[in-house]
Amino acid sequence: MSIPQPGIFVETSNQFYFLEYQINHGLPLAEIKQQLAKALDIANDVNIVIAFGKSLINKLEASSISLELEEFKTIKGVKEFCAKGTQRDVLFWIHSQNIGKNFDAMMTIHNSMKSISIAALDLHGFTYHDDRDLIGFVDGSANPKLPEQHQVALIPQGKEYAGGSYMLTQKWCHNLPKFNKMPITEQEQVVGRTKIDSIELEGNDMPINSHVSRTDVKVNGEAMKIYRRSAPFGNTSESGLYFLSFACEMQRFTSQLNRMYGLTDDGIHDKLIEFSSAQTGSYWFAPSMDDLKRIIQVN
Ligand code: HEM
Repeated sequence: MSIPQPGIFVETSNQFYFLEYQINHGLPLAEIKQQLAKALDIANDVNIVIAFGKSLINKLEASSISLELEEFKTIKGVKEFCAKGTQRDVLFWIHSQNIGKNFDAMMTIHNSMKSISIAALDLHGFTYHDDRDLIGFVDGSANPKLPEQHQVALIPQGKEYAGGSYMLTQKWCHNLPKFNKMPITEQEQVVGRTKIDSIELEGNDMPINSHVSRTDVKVNGEAMKIYRRSAPFGNTSESGLYFLSFACEMQRFTSQLNRMYGLTDDGIHDKLIEFSSAQTGSYWFAPSMDDLKRIIQVN
């Protein structure tokens, strides 16, 4: 039985740090592994999830690997909509209810990582009111939250890399004045749920270009569910959502993104992308605990 990284499923945190690093690939592999191990050697009870981009995992795993991981390439959607691809090598997701402990963990990680990499993203996320995104809608209502539903996020037991997860992260920046200018009924049509109590719109009330319509995807009758752990971030000059999600297969992300960007036969795009744009994008692999130990071990 391969155990997933436990921080993936801890839902009690309200403070988050997201760190993305670009590794200096010219360095000896042993040095990269040593510093990664040091970064994770934290005597502190915060949750830390680590994940790797394709080129680094290929390097860390000398033998040929069976992962279907891809690099995130810029998506050019209909009408000039675009999701930027900024594929990076290592992601750390630090979270707990204690911002002080999170900060200490972040500094320990950074002190280990700075000799082998460049920090490409360093973002503080938080829970906004009752689990709402900054557009005011509850984010996570349709998430598969029950433990028996967590298999949507994990490579199944028995397969190579079982207990690991494919991940998609994107830093989305919102145009809040534009969104907030709309009457609430129109905002609800953009999302596909009611604003106050997050009830899904039904029948003719649900527009085909709402965010829920575009992301609630079935392929050959199977629901392409993913497990989302995004968090809002922001200050007075920039605000939005760090979208962070897990899946048992890559196709779940690509089919949702293609539908959001109008890259399907119907050519319909997700109305939400008229109010927010993805400034970064990476695909990752978060190995199980056993695989992680093996991957960063110096032989
Ligand atoms: C600006 C960025 C985004 C915002 C503000 C946002 C917000 C929301 C909100 C408010 C909901 C409805 C409540 C819920 O079920 O969680 C939702 C649902 C959902 N979103 Fe997003 N989202 C964003 C980006 C994305 C992206 C990039 C994906 C996938 C690649 C995605 C996948 C989903 C899925 C799968 C659902 C549930 C659909 C269902 O089965 O009902 N979202 N999102």
